[in-house]
Amino acid sequence: MRAYTLMNLLGSLPAAFSAPQQPPLTNTSALPVHFGLLLFPGFVALDAYSVVDILNTLSLKYNLPATFDVIAEKKTPVSTIPSASSSTFGQSVVVTATYDEYLTSEKLLDVLIVPGGYGISSAIPAAAPFIKGVYPRLQYVLTVCVGAFITAESGILDGRNATVSKVNWKNKMTRARKEVNWQTPARWVTHDNIWTASAAASGVDMVLAWIGHVYGKPVADYLGYEYEFNRARNSTDDAFAEIWQF
Ligand SMILES: *[C@@H]1O[C@H](CO)[C@@H](O)[C@H](O)[C@H]1NC(C)=O
Ligand SMILES: *[C@@H]1O[C@H](CO)[C@@H](O)[C@H](O)[C@H]1NC(C)=O
Ligand SMILES: *[C@@H]1O[C@H](CO)[C@@H](O)[C@H](O)[C@H]1NC(C)=O
Repeated sequence: MRAYTLMNLLGSLPAAFSAPQQPPLTNTSALPVHFGLLLFPGFVALDAYSVVDILNTLSLKYNLPATFDVIAEKKTPVSTIPSASSSTFGQSVVVTATYDEYLTSEKLLDVLIVPGGYGISSAIPAAAPFIKGVYPRLQYVLTVCVGAFITAESGILDGRNATVSKVNWKNKMTRARKEVNWQTPARWVTHDNIWTASAAASGVDMVLAWIGHVYGKPVADYLGYEYEFNRARNSTDDAFAEIWQF
């Protein structure tokens, strides 16, 4: 009887119960065009692809006239295996541009994505000056996990709020740049045009919020439904702060 009543209700309210439809893009003002992913040996694939995979889908669905560079110190494939590791388990990504190509030219870059990973210490000496050099031409910087530590070493987070993955937060913070206002609980943090996410998977929450900010909330909501991703309700909806005992 209850099911019958529900069926009647559904039948009488088709609009309220219809499946999500891909919404139109309404914000056409100065959308970012040139995207870049900073990579280094020992990056964490999910740090990078939590953000990049959603952007791949966004650009396909909306046929965005956007470009994407994988940017590294050298133009050789970059592996998830850190240089100092003897592991044979990992994957490599093809590099399409070097730090120097951007630093020695006015090559356009609107959005820079900085993942973290086990290789950050050896990445910082070349990556931090690259970030510092290109920052003035960027519309947005998106970091995931200890990508925030690489970015902090460029100086652009000084005096700004940011977050980073929480595992070993207390030990980790002895290595973190002190000029940054490191925050937790936080699924992600925004300050001016810099968006920083916590650990790898939180990159999905951050990029969906960023897409909501730039391309409109309906577009972000739709992508969240398509990926069947349980989104954090807001940037401080962070169950992991309790798990890591804050
Ligand atoms: C930065 O964090 C502080 C709390 O530590 C907060 O009061 C302030 O509003 C934040 N600034 C921005 C720009 O979000
Ligand atoms: C539209 O896009 C611009 C450029 O990225 C952004 O600054 C602005 O917040 C967006 N507006 C809306 C309503 O989404
Ligand atoms: C963010 O979400 C959490 C969990 O639902 C909630 O407790 C908190 O009040 C929310 N904060 C804001 C500012 O809406």
